[in-house]
Amino acid sequence: SQVQDMSGGKVKAAKDMAFVFDIDGVLVHGDRLIPEGRRALEILNGDNELGIKIPHIFLTNGSGKPEAARVRQLEGILGQPISTDQFIQSHTPMRALAEYYGTVLVVGGEGYRCREVAEQYGFRDIVVPNDIVASDPTIAPYRVFTDEERASSRPRDFTKVNIEAIMVFSDSRDYATDMQIIMDLLRSEDGRLGTVAKDPVSQRIPIYFSQGDMLCPTEHPIPRMSQGAFRIGLEAMYKSLTGVELERVVYGKPELATYKYADEVMASWMDQLHGDERVPRNIYMVGDNPASDIIGGNMYGWNTCLVRTGVFQGGDNDDENPANFGVFKNVLEAVQTAIRKEL
Ligand code: G3P
Ligand code: MG
Repeated sequence: SQVQDMSGGKVKAAKDMAFVFDIDGVLVHGDRLIPEGRRALEILNGDNELGIKIPHIFLTNGSGKPEAARVRQLEGILGQPISTDQFIQSHTPMRALAEYYGTVLVVGGEGYRCREVAEQYGFRDIVVPNDIVASDPTIAPYRVFTDEERASSRPRDFTKVNIEAIMVFSDSRDYATDMQIIMDLLRSEDGRLGTVAKDPVSQRIPIYFSQGDMLCPTEHPIPRMSQGAFRIGLEAMYKSLTGVELERVVYGKPELATYKYADEVMASWMDQLHGDERVPRNIYMVGDNPASDIIGGNMYGWNTCLVRTGVFQGGDNDDENPANFGVFKNVLEAVQTAIRKEL
């Protein structure tokens, strides 16, 4: 019948659309739910007029926990099922680096959680700043090192170890200590602490950052500084100490490599959901940060939706990186408008 044809057409259209969600400032603020986020996911998980699932993945610049742990936490806050197969954190694509380096310094995050992340990614020999402080407390002159931290660290003689690369996975919990250790390593001979290279460039080990956001929306009323601010501080210090620019690699939104990775995740998620690896034609990115979610989505040919629940606090649209599908009060409005357009 005509009605069946119509809903058949809608089912087809529903399979040709997908959503990519930013997390902080769109679905949650830290550990607090943005209520419209739950409803938006319910609709995509099948509570819609067609009763079908509309594919969606999560692409966050968030970091600091293993994927499975963060997914469980988000499921608790959002009350909706999420699979690690539809979930990308800033450092997720960095798992590909594990095969290239032996000993690496992993920086950032709470406690030793980023060590755990790096282990899960297959990194073979992982050093965190606390291991270095425990081995030689004079390296960080202002650091107060607790007994608990000492007990859980893995000290060794770092003047006999070459650290082959620096991986900033998450926000530094102690800028002074982390910046000092990173600067020492960048200026050393091939990552050997206790040395200072004569030529700062030829013996410099590479440094990677999991994302470049300047600001992050949190429970605090004004967005807080994030990894981008930390990196810019390091770059400025490095330049004035050595006279040369610091070369570095940045992952996360809006870097192209991250969007390509998201495409691969989308394709395999489509396969799980609809038995078809094709990336849908109409992808909607819902984000709150024009300088990361929106600029990246625009460059990658996605439909971009900017919401007012996070970093963006401007007028009709962002002046520098306007969302091409529109600005919405919240994620639910964005999802409903996109679905109305496609189906
Ligand atoms: O800026 C750091 C991070 O918390 C942002 O996460 O989900 O907004 O990309 P998200
Ligand atoms: Mg955000």
